[in-house]
Formats: sequence, C-alpha cells, structure tokens
Amino acid sequence: MKIGREKLEIKRQREEILFVSEHPRSAALYGRAQKSLLSGVPMNWMKKWAGAFPVFVKKAKGAHFTCVDGHEYVDLCLGDTGAMTGHSPDVVVEAVTKRVRDGITLMLPTEDALFVGEDLKKRFGLPYWQFTLTATDANRFSIRIAREITQRSKILVLHYCYHGTVDESFAGLHDGVVGPRRGNIGPPVNPAETTRVVEFNDLSALEEALKHHDVACILAEPAMTNVGIILPDEGYWKAARELTRRYGALLIADETHTICAGPRGCTAEWKLEPDMLVFGKAIGGGIPGAAYGCTEEVAQRIAARIQLEDCDVGGIGGTLAGNALSLAAMRATLEHVLTAKNFEKMIALAKRFNEGVSSAIQGVGLPWNVQRLGCRAEYTFCEKAPRNGGESAAAADFELERFLHLYALNRGVLLTPFHNMALMCPETTEGDIDRHTVLFREAVGELAKG
Ligand SMILES: Cc1ncc(COP(=O)(O)O)c(C=O)c1O
Repeated sequence: MKIGREKLEIKRQREEILFVSEHPRSAALYGRAQKSLLSGVPMNWMKKWAGAFPVFVKKAKGAHFTCVDGHEYVDLCLGDTGAMTGHSPDVVVEAVTKRVRDGITLMLPTEDALFVGEDLKKRFGLPYWQFTLTATDANRFSIRIAREITQRSKILVLHYCYHGTVDESFAGLHDGVVGPRRGNIGPPVNPAETTRVVEFNDLSALEEALKHHDVACILAEPAMTNVGIILPDEGYWKAARELTRRYGALLIADETHTICAGPRGCTAEWKLEPDMLVFGKAIGGGIPGAAYGCTEEVAQRIAARIQLEDCDVGGIGGTLAGNALSLAAMRATLEHVLTAKNFEKMIALAKRFNEGVSSAIQGVGLPWNVQRLGCRAEYTFCEKAPRNGGESAAAADFELERFLHLYALNRGVLLTPFHNMALMCPETTEGDIDRHTVLFREAVGELAKG
C-alpha cells in the first residue's frame, strides 16, 4: 500500500487545526515565550514536537501528565528515557526531599556515592565509577580517558549514532566518506579529523577502520536506539570485541538508552565486555546525573597519568558533577525502581505495544515492521528490520511521522518526537497501551482509506 502525499498533508493539516483549537493556553504561553526564549522554547529540540508549538506541562506522575489546557496524556515518550522510571517515583521524591533539606552540593562526597558505585559494579561488572550531570559528559570524559591512555587521536562511531552533544560523534558517512552530520551547528573542526565512522553490523568495515592504529576507542550503543532500534547480528559484538583488542582500541558501551534491555543493560544480558560503560538519563529517576565506569586495567592506566596538582584542570570535571542530590536520587532509583521485578512488567508491556501495532499494520497491509529492545518498542516504515543506520534512516518519513504523532497527541497519547519510539515505565498499564493501539489502528485505517 502506498500513502498518497497530498492526502497525508490534508489529514496532517486537519490534525494541526484540531491541535491549535484544543490548546489555547499552551498557544498563549508559546506566544509569550517568543519574547524571552530563543525560538520560544527552553531547548531548541523542543521545536520538533508534532504540532505548531509544544504542549506546556502542568503536572506529571507515573506514566501520565496533564497539560496547562487540562488534557490528560499517556506518556510513552517518558522524557526520551530520562523518565523511564515513571515521573517522580515516590521513593526518589522522598530521597531528594530529604537531601534538599540536608545540603544539595558541596564538592565533597556523601555515603550515597558508595552505594551507587557498589550497585553499578554488581550490575555491570566494572569495578570503578565516576559521576557527571549528563550522559553527554560521561561520554566525553570516557573518550578523554581512552585518548589519554592509548595516546591515539581518533574515536570510532557508528553511522547515525547519537551519544549526546559530543562533538566527535556528529560525524556521518557521505558516499562512504566521513564528514559533518547534517544539521551540525558550528563544528569546532571537520569531524573527519577526529572520527572514523562505520555502519553497524559490518565487521570488515570495522576492521578496515581499526587497521590505521589511530583509534583510541569505539563509542557505541550495544543496540542502536537513535535511528529506530537496530539489533546487533548474532556474534557481532563478540567479533567486534576481538577486533578492538587486536588493534588496541577501547570499547565504550553507551547504555544510556539500552538500559531498557533489563536492569543490567545489554552488557550483562549479552555478556559484553566493554572497557568503559556510560549510563545516564534514567539513572537518577529524572534528577540530572550520569555515571561512567571502567575496568581495573583502565583505572590503573589512567591513574598512572593523572597528577594530583592537575586533577581539577584536565578536562574532566564539572562543579556540580557527583553532587549530593544527584547521588541521593541515583541511590533511590537503583535500589527501588530499576529492579528486575519492574523490568519484567515493563518488558511485557512493550511486547503488548508491538503486538497491537503489528496487528494494525497487518490489518491494512502496510509494509512496516516493529522492533523491540526490552521495554522500548518502535515501528519503522519499511518491511524488513534495518541492519544499520543507513538503512534505517532511508526508511524514515518525517511527514508521516508527524501525522501519526499528532493524531495520537490530539487524542491523549504522547510519543517521542524523534522517530516512532514508545517506552514503558513501572506505572504504565495495559490500558495505556491499548489506548495507543486503538488510536494507531484508527490512524493507519484513515491512511489506508486514502
Ligand atoms: C545513547 C545516548 N547517549 C547519550 C545521550 C546524551 O544524553 P544527555 O542528553 O542526557 O547528555 C543520549 C541522548 O539522547 C543518548 O541517546
């Protein structure tokens, strides 16, 4: 079945009019924001929501939120993983409320840091941990450590990866040649100088790139999640790990999103053996914080190169990194929320989401597929599951995405503004998922009718 563009645009405009008429208060706030916020939003990507302006939030709890116009939504975006714990889990609220009263940031450690380090060690098998405020910083500092101990200049990333605003990672392949990724704002240097890029699941390309002996580290998600969900081929990571060892590059597993696979991420699920691991976003239940861990060997090699006198000016830091509030939130989240029991429930819900979406697309004969990693579900506009970033990006359809997202939003379901991802939290219910399935079936039914 082919979707006519003209009809799609007419339907999208109908949804746009409905959205504007249903959200007068958000519209007024957005109008006012034009005078004080750049582009009228607190962060530029908030412009990307389907609809003429973002919905302004009044209150969020668990899997739901209400907007300033009084509408209630099922939240399947969950802050693009920042709220995978559900919004404001009670245990986190309690822990941070106490911590706020007892001191928020001191540049000194609290005992919570030890609990968090010990928990992460048990989860992922890496013995030593450090903390930052964002996953971006955790990635940046891991890269610095890799460069320092290998004395190599380049990093290697996967085509269409996303690891936060890490300069080196905004590189892509253009007819096989590395260059800045589309939309790269003011790159400090051409990323071809800093970065090698290969497609996921291509071991010979990986080996070719490593053969230059200038790659300090591979920074990769165990499964790609930022251009749809792309799973590794059977045996890919085992072979890739052998290659990194053979050519002296470190492997950094960015588990910021792939923690959705289970409480110990893909690293434990798939028995990966990274040299370093990054875990941000959900780790603090919504309070800013991230962690990066390393092996005994990496710890020894980096410790040998850091002088006490210079340890505050080496390019790894952040005044509020490792602050008491973030660590109190991480402790409560790890101890009570990101548990095996909660994941079991969340994963079952993601399966239910995909079953619903699958049956709807089969019902109307659309050549789309569904993919899942733990409690993260996604549909892609192509028949076969893509094996790499290039294939997945080729199947993207911005207009179609916007129509489907706006259709759902107008009827009380929020999807992530980037691609077609739905995430489950411990408070998501079967009823929430079925609400999406009904709407999705209606929307694709309309598309099928033309
Ligand atoms: C895999 C991955 N790593 C790191 C980041 C960066 O996280 P933050 O924006 O919290 O720094 C993201 C953000 O989406 C991500 O998807």
